[in-house]
Amino acid sequence: MNDRDYDTPPASPGQGSGDSTTRQNLLEGKVNAYCGRRLAPAHLEQAQEDVANEVLRWNGQLDFKKKLQEAKRNHGRVDLMESSKGVKFAVKRMPNRWMQDGPRPFNERYPNTSEKPWVDVAIVSLLQKESFQYVCQLDAIYRDDSDTFVAWEFAPHGDLFAWEDDLKAGKEREAKMLPLTCQLVYAVWYLHEFGIAHRDLSLENVVLSDGPNGTSRIKLIDFGMATADRSCKDQVCGKQSYRAPEMYTADSYDSFLSDTFAVGVIFYALAVQDYPWISTKRGGCQLFEYVNMYGLKAFTERRKLRKGNGENLIEVLSPELLEVLISLMAFNPAERGCLGESCWKDRANVRNFRWIKKGFDKEVAALARTDADCVKANFEEISPNTPVPVTSSPEQRNDAGKEQKAKEKEKEQKEHKTKEKKEKEQKPTSEKRPESRERRDSASRNSKTGSSSPDKPPNSAGLVNPKCVVPTSSGKESTRAVETTPALT
Ligand SMILES: Nc1ncnc2c1ncn2[C@@H]1O[C@H](COP(=O)(O)OP(=O)(O)O)[C@@H](O)[C@H]1O
Ligand SMILES: [Mg+2]
Repeated sequence: MNDRDYDTPPASPGQGSGDSTTRQNLLEGKVNAYCGRRLAPAHLEQAQEDVANEVLRWNGQLDFKKKLQEAKRNHGRVDLMESSKGVKFAVKRMPNRWMQDGPRPFNERYPNTSEKPWVDVAIVSLLQKESFQYVCQLDAIYRDDSDTFVAWEFAPHGDLFAWEDDLKAGKEREAKMLPLTCQLVYAVWYLHEFGIAHRDLSLENVVLSDGPNGTSRIKLIDFGMATADRSCKDQVCGKQSYRAPEMYTADSYDSFLSDTFAVGVIFYALAVQDYPWISTKRGGCQLFEYVNMYGLKAFTERRKLRKGNGENLIEVLSPELLEVLISLMAFNPAERGCLGESCWKDRANVRNFRWIKKGFDKEVAALARTDADCVKANFEEISPNTPVPVTSSPEQRNDAGKEQKAKEKEKEQKEHKTKEKKEKEQKPTSEKRPESRERRDSASRNSKTGSSSPDKPPNSAGLVNPKCVVPTSSGKESTRAVETTPALT
């Protein structure tokens, strides 16, 4: 597919309307600049065919290191694997009878599933061509007689579900999460400007990698439910707690605004280490009904902190963050804030809210400048660091592979130095992450069954209203268990 096939969106203030303007804007650090091309559903279909045509034969090119997570929605798992050169990959392994031979046979076999693994790889391959830094790069797709292996760039610091498990809600936690949330606003905004809605944004689908100069960089993963359609109907997508309420109505919903709601739930869950509710379906969860009746602010005044000593949420959430949450998690999509997308002129833009504004310019402008360097490198010298799109020819892949080898070594050395520096500054968190996840999963299971373990304070008690009795616990759900896995036939 020709890169220039994309529609050009109408120019809007602060945005590039074409390649050269955009590159210039990026180089100048104007964070509103973006690729200036917008994806259409037809491009997405073509991109799926393109990636399916580049599948390579699996003959154990990568060595298994350890299992990272289940990938239940895709009937598979994600493993950490390593190349003979020591490069690490997160490899999503899925059965061929799920993947089928490509997007067409997949859609014929599973016409009603909202999870589409070929869409996942196709979208990332397109974003990769834009040098978009907030996705894990797609390295290659392999296949043997029984399974398909999708090799992704490995994000070494796990997903947001396991982020800073031991850091209590409050000022310090908010300060630490600010750069990540600003990046998330930027990344999802970019997706929307590109014409894609993710529709499965969650703590588990945002992973953490190393950014420039010892910083962290969020990466969006799992685009299997993503769409290039702005208006969707009868498509309830994502994990229960993150679903925008309007997804359940008979009307069509705006896929950008449903992402925005999920971003709000991510912020909430990151800040207080809990989900606001189990479900956003009317009548499906009393916590949700309470917020519907009294609003989020009133909820935080009554709701106890899950891992706290009896504090209400309002006591640990800053008013600035609460303002952002109220806007993003508005039940009525007409009242919901946006991430600064050019399609809205009058909607509240959370980038202008105090909490985001404080971190956005500093965080994203700095990263955008680094991204701009990357874009510059791509065009000026065809940087060996540029990931090789999976749609390139095998010859191209080989050539680039040689160049990449030297670059990878250099990167590894840099990473090693950064890691050493980090370790000196703070105690390492990566090792404790899997354990934290298990602990929280089990806490969540306990909270649902009403039992509690001795090492865990009882969950948010006391939110009782005569008109609307709120259950005393929700806990972070073990989301993979709550999701419905598409049937494998
Ligand atoms: N590139 C990656 N780097 C690190 N961890 C990853 C990566 N990709 C996936 N994971 C881990 O594996 C989990 C499942 O992967 P995902 O692609 O989201 O599968 P599923 O479609 O089943 O949700 C993620 O939540 C994350 O913890
Ligand atoms: Mg996932």
